[in-house]
Amino acid sequence: MPALVLIGAQWGDEGKGKATDQLGGSVDYVVKFNGGNNAGHTVVIGDETYALHLLPSGILSPGCTPVIGNGVVVDLAVLFQEIDDLEARGFSCERLVISADAHIIASYNRTLDRVAERFLGNRKIGTTGRGIGPTYADKMNRIGIRVQDLFDENILRQKVAGALDLKNQLLVKVYNRKAVTVEAVVEELLSYADRLRPMVVDSALLLNQALDRGETVLLEGGQATLLDVDHGTYPFVTSSSATAGGACTGSGIPPNRVDKVIAVIKAYTTRVGEGPFPTELLDADGEKLRADGGEYGTTTGRPRRCGWYDSVIARYAARINGVTDFVLTKLDVLTGWESIPVCVAYEVDGKRLDEMPMTQTEFHHAVPVYEFFDGWTEDISQARTFSDLPKNAQDYVRALEQLSGAPFSSIGVGPDRVQTLELRPLL
Ligand code: GDP
Ligand code: IMO
Ligand code: MG
Repeated sequence: MPALVLIGAQWGDEGKGKATDQLGGSVDYVVKFNGGNNAGHTVVIGDETYALHLLPSGILSPGCTPVIGNGVVVDLAVLFQEIDDLEARGFSCERLVISADAHIIASYNRTLDRVAERFLGNRKIGTTGRGIGPTYADKMNRIGIRVQDLFDENILRQKVAGALDLKNQLLVKVYNRKAVTVEAVVEELLSYADRLRPMVVDSALLLNQALDRGETVLLEGGQATLLDVDHGTYPFVTSSSATAGGACTGSGIPPNRVDKVIAVIKAYTTRVGEGPFPTELLDADGEKLRADGGEYGTTTGRPRRCGWYDSVIARYAARINGVTDFVLTKLDVLTGWESIPVCVAYEVDGKRLDEMPMTQTEFHHAVPVYEFFDGWTEDISQARTFSDLPKNAQDYVRALEQLSGAPFSSIGVGPDRVQTLELRPLL
């Protein structure tokens, strides 16, 4: 039995939460392998809506064990708040386990995230302000605080002191903020230790043993391909590996145990924060997509930038991630357009490019080459099979599939679990 990877193909918010939740009932483990509470996944079950940030979306499936993997950065206050909120709504978080190697978002990193953005001025990234970048930077700089450090007070104090030697210089001398004391940071972190301890495991061992027993593991990515620190639109990216490769390093599951890579992709494109976006619509059409799709961030409430489907991005995501299946989402949002443009290539400085340009400069200059497809006006939110879709919607989906470099396995026609058309089984 396999390990499956599920990632976002575009700039995030493709509907990964819904897709993970749907698979959650059929898998034994759902593992978050990157990112932290910069993610926002909305899951709709009947009349109830759940907004998840740090917890894997599998938390809503009673039979499945949710895992926060070593590649995640954990804000402990957010973790316990999310657990308390879900338990108050009747969901047990008893099975949740957390890697001893996951890094902790300390208070000074939340502060640094926000002040650094202010200092960047018009070069800002538009981060979520949750301390994600500074915490991953500490990991790479080898001055990070890990979950396991909370269980050795002496080590914790030494590590916090080491980090603050540097951080306080930055806070005070560069950013004009108050210094932070070692004691205050240690005290805050230790206040979570007792509650955290029973959840902490060697998650790589746990998951590999589960696979040995024939159990199924779903590795759920936060963010998305174009926000990946290596393969995304750097520097306008997050600080983690959000592509399929990151699923292995962020969980300790080796690549040869991964059987499928599922990429979630929206029937149009959105982006939150700064950075280039070739098919972006800055006019009334963009506003219509935002209104029809409810495109406001789950985490920060910011309006999402909206534009047409970009098949150059889809092909890039297919290639970088080794996509075996695309899950197309939010097709229902496109109902009511007379004609729907799809980007099939870019024109860059007078030259046609069918694939992602090599450089940031070229991507900033990319002008979409559009093909136009006839729209439909019928309400498709009640469709349950592909043949229920009007012919123009069928043609649109088939055209996207042809252009995108991997087969489409399901189509979303609404936020609810049941509003999904299955074309081929994912499991
Ligand atoms: P994620 O970050 O990839 O999990 O995506 P978000 O949850 O941030 O954003 C996706 C939004 O679209 C959520 O509000 C979902 O409930 C909603 N959604 C997911 N699939 C569909 C769909 O097929 N149709 C519609 N109308 N909404 C969807
Ligand atoms: P989900 O999992 C959309 C964006 C931020 C910003 C950039 C860096 O819900 O798809 P960060 O706080 O990570 O340092 O911000 O990345 N970003 C997201 N955009 N969906 C997300 O997550 C995102 N997580 C981060 O807006 O542009
Ligand atoms: Mg989201």
